Amino acid sequence: METEKKTQTAAEQMTDRDLSEQIKKVTKESHVRAENTQLMLSFQRGKVTLPQYKLLLCSLYEIYQALEEQLDRNSNHPGVAPIYFPAELARLETIEKDLEYFYGPDWREKIVVPAATKRYCHRLRQIGEENPEFLLAHAYTRYLGDLSGGQVLGRIAQKSMGLKNSEGLSFFAFPGVSSPNLFKQLYRSRMNSVELTEEERNGVLEEAVRAFEFNIQVFDDLQKLLSVTENNLQSCLSQSKPVNAKTLQIPGTLINSSPLLRMVLGFFVALATVSVGIYAL
Ligand code: HEM
Repeated sequence: METEKKTQTAAEQMTDRDLSEQIKKVTKESHVRAENTQLMLSFQRGKVTLPQYKLLLCSLYEIYQALEEQLDRNSNHPGVAPIYFPAELARLETIEKDLEYFYGPDWREKIVVPAATKRYCHRLRQIGEENPEFLLAHAYTRYLGDLSGGQVLGRIAQKSMGLKNSEGLSFFAFPGVSSPNLFKQLYRSRMNSVELTEEERNGVLEEAVRAFEFNIQVFDDLQKLLSVTENNLQSCLSQSKPVNAKTLQIPGTLINSSPLLRMVLGFFVALATVSVGIYAL
C-alpha cells in the first residue's frame, strides 16, 4: 500500500514536472477567456462574418510573420530547436494565399492591423532578441491552438461564410500533419525535452499566459474596430439614403466596390484607429 502510494506520487510529480502539462495548466483559465471573446463566440455560433474573418487574417499575417521570422532566426537555439517544425507548421504562406483570395493581388496595401497586434508582434521580436526560449510559449499557444480548436473553427468558418471547398481557408489546413493528435503528442514530448533552469521555466510559463493575453487583446481590438466602422458607416449612410443592413455587415466588400465608399470607410477606419489607439507603438 505504502509502495503503491509512493509510486503514484512519483508518477504525479513526473507529470507535474512536464512543461507540456504545466503550460496547459497555467493557461487553462486564459483559454476559457480566449474562447469567450466576442470574435471566438461568433465562430463557435457559426456566425463569423466575412469582415470579421478578413480582419482576423490581417492580424494573423502580422503575428505569424513576426513569430516565424524569430523561430527561423533562432532555429538552432536549444530552447527552440526541439519545437522547430517549419515544414509541418509554418502558416505565413498559407495566410498570404488566403489574403490574396479575399483582398486580391494588391492585398498588402489593404491590410488593416490594430494596436494590439502591433504590441504582440513587438513582444515576439523582443523575445526573439533577448529570450529566444520564450518563443516556445508563443509557438505552443498559436500552433497547438491551430491544431486543436482551430480545426473545428475552419470547418465552421467555411459554412458560415459559404465558401466553396477550402478557398480562402488555407490557414486551417496542415498538409504536412497527417494526424493532429499524434503530432501534438510529438510536440509535447519535444517541449518536455527542452532543458530549462527553474527561472527560465517560470519565464516560459509566464510568457504563455502573456501569449494568450495578447491573442485576447487582438480579438477584442478587431471587434472594436469592426463595430466602430460599422456604426459610423451606418449613421453616415442613413443620412443620405436607406441602407441595406446586410450590405453594411460587409465593409470589406464595399471597400472593393465603390471609390466613394472607400473614402468614407477610410475616414472612419482612421477614426477607429485613433479610438482604439492603433498605432500606439
Ligand atoms: C472558439 C475558440 C476555441 C475553441 C472552441 C478551442 C477549443 C480547443 C480544444 C477542444 C482543445 C483541445 C483540448 C485538449 O486536447 O485537451 C484546444 C486546445 C488548445 N487551444 Fe483552443 N480553442 C479555442 C480558441 C483558442 C485560442 C484563441 C487559442 C490561443 C490563441 C487556443 C489555444 C489552444 C492551445 C494552445 C491548445 C493546446 C492545449 C494543450 O493540449 O496543451 N485556443 N482548444
